[in-house]
Order: sequence, then C-alpha cells, then structure tokens
Amino acid sequence: MAVPKYIKGKEPHKSEYRMIFRNVDRRGWDASIKSYIADGGYKDLKKALKMKSQEVTDEVKTSGLRGRGGAGFPTGVKWGFIPPDNKKPVYLICNSDESEPGTFKDRYIVHQDPHQLIEGMLISCYAVGAKVAYIYIREEFSEGAKILENAIEEARKKNFLGKKILGGKFNCEIFIHRGAGAYICGEETGLIESLEGKRPYPRIKPPYFPAALGLYMCPTIVNNVESLCHVKHIIAMGGQKYAKIGTPRNTGTRILCVSGDVVRPGYFEVEVGKITMGELINDVCGGLRKGRKLKGVIPGGSSAKVLRAGEKYTIGTGESERTIGINDIPMDFDTLAACGSMAGSGGVIVMDDSRDMAWILNNINTFYAHESCGQCTPCREGSLWMKKITDRMVSGAGVPSDLKTLTSVGDNIAGRTICAFGEACAWPTQSFVAKFPEDFKKHTSRRNAGKELNPESKAAAAGLKR
Ligand SMILES: Cc1cc2nc3c(=O)[nH]c(=O)nc-3n(C[C@H](O)[C@H](O)[C@H](O)COP(=O)(O)O)c2cc1C
Ligand code: SF4
Repeated sequence: MAVPKYIKGKEPHKSEYRMIFRNVDRRGWDASIKSYIADGGYKDLKKALKMKSQEVTDEVKTSGLRGRGGAGFPTGVKWGFIPPDNKKPVYLICNSDESEPGTFKDRYIVHQDPHQLIEGMLISCYAVGAKVAYIYIREEFSEGAKILENAIEEARKKNFLGKKILGGKFNCEIFIHRGAGAYICGEETGLIESLEGKRPYPRIKPPYFPAALGLYMCPTIVNNVESLCHVKHIIAMGGQKYAKIGTPRNTGTRILCVSGDVVRPGYFEVEVGKITMGELINDVCGGLRKGRKLKGVIPGGSSAKVLRAGEKYTIGTGESERTIGINDIPMDFDTLAACGSMAGSGGVIVMDDSRDMAWILNNINTFYAHESCGQCTPCREGSLWMKKITDRMVSGAGVPSDLKTLTSVGDNIAGRTICAFGEACAWPTQSFVAKFPEDFKKHTSRRNAGKELNPESKAAAAGLKR
C-alpha cells in the first residue's frame, strides 16, 4: 500500500496514528471503488471469507475493540450475545446517526472512504451471520447517503455485495435508511423502532437487548461507523497485533473530535490512551487562544460530565494508584471513567476562562429539552424544566434556589428512565452546577427581582407544593 500524502494544510499531526482516517484528506484520493481497490481495498473481505465466521468473531474479541459509538462496549463480546440456538434471521445495523454534539468523525468516513465502511460491514455480517444489513444515516447527511448508495452499487458490480459474494456461499445486501434528524434515533433501540417505520421510542432493556430481540424481534447487532471500520483492520493485521496498538483494555486507535477554544480544532486519530488531555489540547490542537486559561473540558460529547481545570483525580489501583490533574489524563475509556466522566463518542469540547458555564449549560439543556422523545416523565418534564431554569438564569432572572432545583431535577432523571438519554441530559446539569457554582451564583444573586419570574416561587406563594 502506498504511503499517503495529504492535502496541504490538512496533514495529520505527528502524534496521530492514521488507520481509519488514512484516506481522509488524502491527496489524489476519491471515494470511488477504483481508488479503494488500487490501495488494497476488499482484500480483507477476501481474507475473512476464507476463515470460519467464528474465527472472525474470535479475532475481534482478541483485538479488544471497544465500541466507538459512546458506551465503549467490547464489540466481539456484543457479537457473542446472539443466542447460540437462534433460528431467526440476524441483522447488522450501522449506526451513522452521529448526533452527539461535539462529534464529527463518522461523516468524514462516509464522505471520503465509504468502501472502508462497506468492507468492515460485510466482514462483520459474515462473522455474525447476517444476510441483510442497514446503514441508518441521519437526514442531515443527504450527501453522505448518496455517496453510500453509489458505493453500494459499485461494490455490487464487483460482486463484493449481493449473491454468492466472490463466488462463495455468502450472500449479503446492504440498504441505506435515512432518518429524519432526531438525536434519539442514535440510541440503538430508538433507531430500530425508526427502522421499523415507527416513532423512535427507545425500548426497555431488558428484555429488548438488540443482540437477542432487535429489528423485527430478531437478533440484531448495532455498531457505530468507526467501530465497523476497525473490524477490517483487525482482520488485516490479526487481533493480537491490533491489541498492541493503544493501551491494554483500551486498544486500537480512535478519532477525537476537538472543538471549542483551541487554536487548531479538528479531528485527530490517536492511539487510545497514548495521549493525555494536555498533549491533545496544547500540542495537537496548538493550545488555547492567546492569553486564555483552561476552564473546563467535556471529554466525550455533550452528555459527558464536565471536568474542571485544577481538579485532582485518583486513578489506578494498588501500587499503580496515583493522583493526576486534568492535563495528565490519558484519553482512554477507563481513565476518563475513573475521573468521573467518559470517553463517550470522542467529542472533546474545550472551554477557556472567557466562558460562562451557565450560558454553556443553557445551550446544552436547550438541545436535550428539544430532543427528548417524551416517553418517560422524568426525562420529558425534567429536561424542559432544566432548560427553563437555565433560560431564566441567563436572561437575568435567576434566583438563589435555582442551583438546588437544577441539581434535584437532574438527580431525579438519572437512573429513572427507559434509555440512557436520561443520564445524557442529567449529567451536564449535575456536573456543571457542582463544579462551577460561582458561575451560576453570578446569575442568581445579582438581584432579587427575578423572584417574580420564578415558577417555583410563584407556586410556593400560591401554596402549591411540587
Ligand atoms: C441518546 C443516545 C444517542 C446515541 N447516539 C448515537 C449515535 O449518534 N451514534 C452511535 O454510533 N451511537 C449512538 N448511541 C449509542 C448507541 O445506542 C449504541 O450503543 C451504539 O451505536 C453501539 O455501537 P458501538 O458498540 O459500536 O459503540 C447513542 C446512545 C444514546 C443513549
Ligand atoms: S429517557 Fe428520554 S429519550 Fe429515553 S425513552 Fe425516556 S423520554 Fe425518551
């Protein structure tokens, strides 16, 4: 394979390890099957089809790959949840909804390297025994949907897709399904409902774990775009070799999407856990804007709990236990969880000392209040209630009790809903208020006149108890 050269000004940073994004911004590259095959494309599908399907799953298990869609669940383990005595059809769904604010990686794969995704999906379908796969792509990615449709037709003409693939016994079809632009369609069971033509109300788990009871109540594997691309590389190099990239338990590479107050925002593919937050911000992204100090970071998409500059975290156990600061956090699933947040979808949002955290939380709350599917009362009412409170705060009418109310509303959503949207909308409120109380107090103690506008005070005055 040729060593890629990149478009001027879009060269990868020296700390990057380009595997999934190898062809993104590559000079002379296009999304055609011609470019892909010339670069060794579809060789890994050929290799996989010579293996037993269980061997492919075993390689993925050995690789230690963890899902890149948000939860970081081990991909091979998920595939193993398909009931062994299953007689129903198995489906594979590629989650290309990419709706978590701060995350913008999957769309580049779809636009610039669609065949990498299709090859990864075909290998995955072979491994899990799926003859039909869907790419669920959000409405806003209309160009991406066209590119994928075209790539599927190109692959079909070359017999990588369809009946008797490459002259063997494996049959597989991939269909594109376009969403209508709702965040909740990224949640795997909401996505499945939507794919079935219904309103995307997430299903309760248990019993509706997709690997057992998914699309049309058949075993269904839902994986993120980036996760499925990794499968191709795992087959190319073998699970053991792949597991040496990154760090133990946090293997491979992942694409971090950095936005906010850095000099050079963008996407960066790095070995998982080999780079710290400080290196990412100060080296890869060129640091903060001139004269500014770091205030906080949301490390894994808007639903991840915020980290505050200056905080200390205890990570590791036994002899490896140590205390670190925000800049020392290795960007991996386990460490970010130990620091009280999550690696999530890889969307790193950096905030400097010019930012008002009440304003930022209000922005996040507005998104979640709009996107709640409305099925569970705590989420439907709570997300809107939190938005109304932060709306009031930033419009100068906050009252001192707002901090307590916000926290209490958040506490009463998390853990009390059908799907993880509940946590996604509660965690920002809980963490921002706890970690930056001074910013919220600025909006609540300025004056007392706002009291009249506070629905809680009004209700209390009218003798109504909430
Ligand atoms: C509210 C919500 C939104 C989600 N949005 C996405 C999304 O846009 N893309 C995605 O891949 N996963 C998303 N997820 C995670 C999926 O439910 C699912 O875990 C993931 O697609 C599994 O793929 P993976 O194992 O490869 O990570 C979302 C989860 C929740 C709770
Ligand atoms: S938690 Fe929110 S988004 Fe999820 S099912 Fe309940 S109401 Fe819908």
